Amino acid sequence: MSDIVRAIHVLFDAVENATDVPDFFATVNSLKERAHGIVQKQSGDAISIHLDVLKMFNLAVAKFHYVHGHDSVVSSPVGFMMDPTNNCNLGCPGCWNSTNTDFVNEHYKKLSPGVMKEDTFTAFIRNGGHLSFNAHLYNYSEPFLNKKTPEYIRMCNALRMKTLVSSNLSLPKLDVEAIVASGLDQVMVASDGIRQETYEAYRRGGDVELVFDNVRRLAAAKKKMGSDTPHILWQYLLFAHNEGDVPEAADMAESIGFNEVRFAEGLATVANVDDVGVDASSSEVIAEAAKLGAVFQQAPRVNFVGDLEPWRDMIVSASRDSFVVNAADYVESDVRSDERCDWLYLGTTVDAVGDIRPCCIPDIIHTGPMKMGTIRSNERAFNTGAYNAARRSISNRGAYEKETLGIDPLKKPFCAKCDVGRPLPQVGLGAVHDWFASVNGSEIATAISGSSEVLAASVGWSQHAANRLEA
Ligand SMILES: C[S@@+](CC[C@H](N)C(=O)[O-])C[C@H]1O[C@@H](n2cnc3c(N)ncnc32)[C@H](O)[C@@H]1O
Ligand code: SF4
Ligand code: SF4
Repeated sequence: MSDIVRAIHVLFDAVENATDVPDFFATVNSLKERAHGIVQKQSGDAISIHLDVLKMFNLAVAKFHYVHGHDSVVSSPVGFMMDPTNNCNLGCPGCWNSTNTDFVNEHYKKLSPGVMKEDTFTAFIRNGGHLSFNAHLYNYSEPFLNKKTPEYIRMCNALRMKTLVSSNLSLPKLDVEAIVASGLDQVMVASDGIRQETYEAYRRGGDVELVFDNVRRLAAAKKKMGSDTPHILWQYLLFAHNEGDVPEAADMAESIGFNEVRFAEGLATVANVDDVGVDASSSEVIAEAAKLGAVFQQAPRVNFVGDLEPWRDMIVSASRDSFVVNAADYVESDVRSDERCDWLYLGTTVDAVGDIRPCCIPDIIHTGPMKMGTIRSNERAFNTGAYNAARRSISNRGAYEKETLGIDPLKKPFCAKCDVGRPLPQVGLGAVHDWFASVNGSEIATAISGSSEVLAASVGWSQHAANRLEA
């Protein structure tokens, strides 16, 4: 194990053994200085190694806050979902973009319309986004409606993030060459049927032949450009109306150009609130269809091909900077429970105009706000009053209830009454584990993957973690 990975091991040991906040950060800051010195000495100008080290320090600090159930954090998310646009060309039932505008107006708070501009994207990155391991460039809307999406993917790739986009791909004039050139690791094509009538029962306004044509063009562009990315995954959501197409879909998937096909449950509950014609498939049908899923070509390993130079100053100064904490934010007299939501410490979502919400649950009227802040303001987006209150409402329920007595429940963060079972962030620890296992050209990832002890300390710790270490 190299000196740098040894320092990372000591860092995670410090997280395990820490009791006092100022002492912990004094240790972290001195280890950070040591790590910076080692990288400078061993690799001189290797900005990519500095960035990987920064990501690891951020992960360790996130773990520290998580373990202690802090309200206030100095870490940034270790993965994010970002919407390049706040609108969609289709209108699936239950979605924020449903064509049933009565349903949307009645249930969802309005998303501010717009596409992500470059200054919004870079503000997010400069606000800590570069410390993420995984970037999902989609959440509530259609990513490829923004012509700049491939550019943003390229920047995320440069900043050493594994990238994923989910798209309906029912898009005329799709620039497939730009998508291949972006270095995108995986595109998940959301398309549920092989005939127009079965497909459009859910993907309202879509054209299934256009989707298949775009997949063919994308596969051809990969071939022409000598690229094995993006891995093209067909995500086929199962509902009662499209079950019949499954065997034929499984048969034709590879010849269309998909690298993988996956049949999964479509959540009919939300869809049905919007459109009573969408019925769920039974669990037996879902289990049988899942067996027809297939991988025709393994997802390739991740290569970072983008240019890090424009980010050099940001990375160099971050790798020299110490973590600064306000000790008063961490008075340990509170009684905290073991309850946590991983999203609140590990992931985040940012929409096209820079509004931050903690997870992919939409902002529903009559339940309490999801918006935590905006990257348009100067405050640290992951440490706003709303974010801190959300964390507190879970880890320190008693104190939170007392402090918020008499406050209108609709003004309290939705997290305080979240009853969705606190899903794991798809950009959380499981995804960081994948990053270690699948990236090329990272000495740190290789060394960590090779040491079960360091691997467990770095990604095996969250209460709700999809602990793939056991898999
Ligand atoms: C809201 S969409 C946004 C990205 C893109 N427009 C798309 O549809 O792929 C994000 C993901 O939610 C999935 N999704 C949409 N409706 C769903 C449902 N009823 N059940 C499960 N997943 C759903 C989509 O297939 C997609 O992978
Ligand atoms: S394609 Fe995606 S974003 Fe568009 S309406 Fe359907 S689920 Fe929503
Ligand atoms: S508590 Fe619920 S609403 Fe809040 S971030 Fe977690 S899953 Fe999302």
